[in-house]
Amino acid sequence: MEPAKLGLIGFGEIGRAHSDALAGISEADLVAVADPSEHARKQAESLGVKTFSTHAELLSEASIDGVIIATPDELHLEPSLDAAQAGKHILVEKPIGATVQDGQKIKEAAEKAGIKLMVGHTLRFFPEYNYAKTQVAAGELGQLVSVFARRTNVISQPKRIAGRISVLGFLGVHDFDALRWIIDSEPTRIYCENATSVTHGFGVEDETFTTIRFANGVIACLHCGWFVPDNHPSGFDFRLDVTGDQGIVNLDFANSVTVKHNATGTRQPLISTALAEECRPFATSILNDTAVPVSADDGIAAVKMACAAEQSVRTGLPIDLC
Ligand SMILES: NC(=O)c1ccc[n+]([C@@H]2O[C@H](COP(=O)([O-])OP(=O)(O)OC[C@H]3O[C@@H](n4cnc5c(N)ncnc54)[C@H](O)[C@@H]3O)[C@@H](O)[C@H]2O)c1
Repeated sequence: MEPAKLGLIGFGEIGRAHSDALAGISEADLVAVADPSEHARKQAESLGVKTFSTHAELLSEASIDGVIIATPDELHLEPSLDAAQAGKHILVEKPIGATVQDGQKIKEAAEKAGIKLMVGHTLRFFPEYNYAKTQVAAGELGQLVSVFARRTNVISQPKRIAGRISVLGFLGVHDFDALRWIIDSEPTRIYCENATSVTHGFGVEDETFTTIRFANGVIACLHCGWFVPDNHPSGFDFRLDVTGDQGIVNLDFANSVTVKHNATGTRQPLISTALAEECRPFATSILNDTAVPVSADDGIAAVKMACAAEQSVRTGLPIDLC
């Protein structure tokens, strides 16, 4: 079967990672890149693909089956609506939209156009998170009691993001989705406290602790922030502790045993095929007309959780979700 022909809208940090991931799978071919940045287009040219300065030009290419939208978080709406209108299948990076309303508009446009819409919640495609999910689902931990997640990133990230989105919108949505997926239940109540940054000064939440009650009784806590020193050997501190009444699964990415030493120092790289494993089912859903593994509703649910946590910070109150 011919691979699905994909275009990439946005060739920044994760857009480049998507192009590497696509190079490693046979189900899809990257055929075009759109980015208004000349620098980004120059980098994309080395891939031997067509490059465009606007997503509209890319979408007018009849040969393209689907697109990966990797524009900044607050700029997912317009390219997604335009892609749906052009009849192109969509893999949109997390968060599906900067607001719940944006997410819903994208979902409705995709339904109207009859195209596939998948949200790039990458944690679902990490073997480690998959292991946690399957252990819970198989009852290996007994009755699930609680989950603790940590996602703290390097201090240079908020400078790069420059207030375009909060830490919960940028990082927290990863874990909000993973928690819903692993716990396999809907959140009913969220409470969040934060420390607004003196260091970063962007007026967005920086260091947050969110507790989440799920409908099945499980309690979860997410510690999410971006204060890890840039010279930290792993460059992040990502963890997941899943506790049942008969066992625990601990994921600890900060203390992975893979270490790289070079002139710039020592690093524990996050080696994963996750992005390739995310792109693969998107491509096969196009080729075989099958369902995507992460739906628009999943994407919207994660944004709702982030928004509720931020509302809790503002009001000082727990927020009931249903
Ligand atoms: N899945 C993951 O693990 C992961 C990791 C990092 C970022 N992300 C997500 O990926 C998205 C992009 O983040 P990033 O860090 O790569 O951002 P970035 O700022 O590094 O890159 C965004 C790129 O989009 C381009 N762009 C802006 N408007 C555009 C348009 N209309 N058409 C085409 N290109 C346009 C910019 O010029 C830039 O090159 C965000 O939603 C972010 O949350 C996901």
